[in-house]
Amino acid sequence: MTAKVIDGKAFAAEVRAKVASHVTRLKEENGITPGLAVVLVGEDPASQVYVRSKGKQTVEVGMNSYEHKLDPETSEADLLALIDRLNKDAAVHGILVQLPLPKHLDSDLVINAIDPAKDVDGFHISNVGLLGTGQKSMVPCTPLGCLMMLRDHHGSLAGMDAVVLGRSNIVGKPMAQLLLGDSCTVTIAHSRTKDLADVCRRADIVVAAVGRPEMVPGDWIKPGATVIDVGINRIERDGKTVLVGDVDYASAAAVAGAITPVPGGVGPMTIACLLANTLTACCRANGLSEPEGLTA
Ligand code: GUN
Repeated sequence: MTAKVIDGKAFAAEVRAKVASHVTRLKEENGITPGLAVVLVGEDPASQVYVRSKGKQTVEVGMNSYEHKLDPETSEADLLALIDRLNKDAAVHGILVQLPLPKHLDSDLVINAIDPAKDVDGFHISNVGLLGTGQKSMVPCTPLGCLMMLRDHHGSLAGMDAVVLGRSNIVGKPMAQLLLGDSCTVTIAHSRTKDLADVCRRADIVVAAVGRPEMVPGDWIKPGATVIDVGINRIERDGKTVLVGDVDYASAAAVAGAITPVPGGVGPMTIACLLANTLTACCRANGLSEPEGLTA
């Protein structure tokens, strides 16, 4: 079998188009423009690239983008004061603090200072708790993007065996909660799991989010299974730097039913879902009905 390639780039463009059309309606019918504030502390090159890309896409869908670039030495008190101002600012519907933060700042403290209703990353403990108890929450962007692609491919996920590789707070744990919410039988596997290969081979859905290049070979995949590869790893190959996922694409694509490529799979969905979450937060803040198909 040769797997269907799930085109995340095209899917993300569809999500952005939906968000943009909702934003146009919000402006015309309600006089509201959704606003996203992104806070970057320091000069980490990868973070600067992400933040620039977020700002550009925010403006492209018609929203207001507020970028706050702070000195790497910024004190915790100053960062918390900025978050407090953004929490109180009615023009700001979403707040994202780019991670990782410099070592002298306590990420948990900072994230939990964000108003949960504006926490478009879904990292605040209130949102984590709401998601875990099946209540309406802000859902982390990357897992939300994975869920959208899975629902689009399968329709209902009910009764499917899903294995999530990786237990991070950003991807693995919320991904497992979302799959459980869609009635999958979910296993979270990690570096200490006994016989990882055997666990994977039982899965109808494999979501790989471990950050280890090409760790999952094709012979771990059940024929016909759907493989969602969250990994974005830079490696040297034949003297060139290339991007690869956590899954060995060539061997997995030969047995899977469907697979996301790297690049062009999950990656583009993350910012698209950030925009979707900002729109959702704006609708909720204004007592308006939420956009369909853009939330969990
Ligand atoms: N750094 C890498 N990924 C993310 C993300 O999804 N959100 C935030 N805030 N920081 C990140």
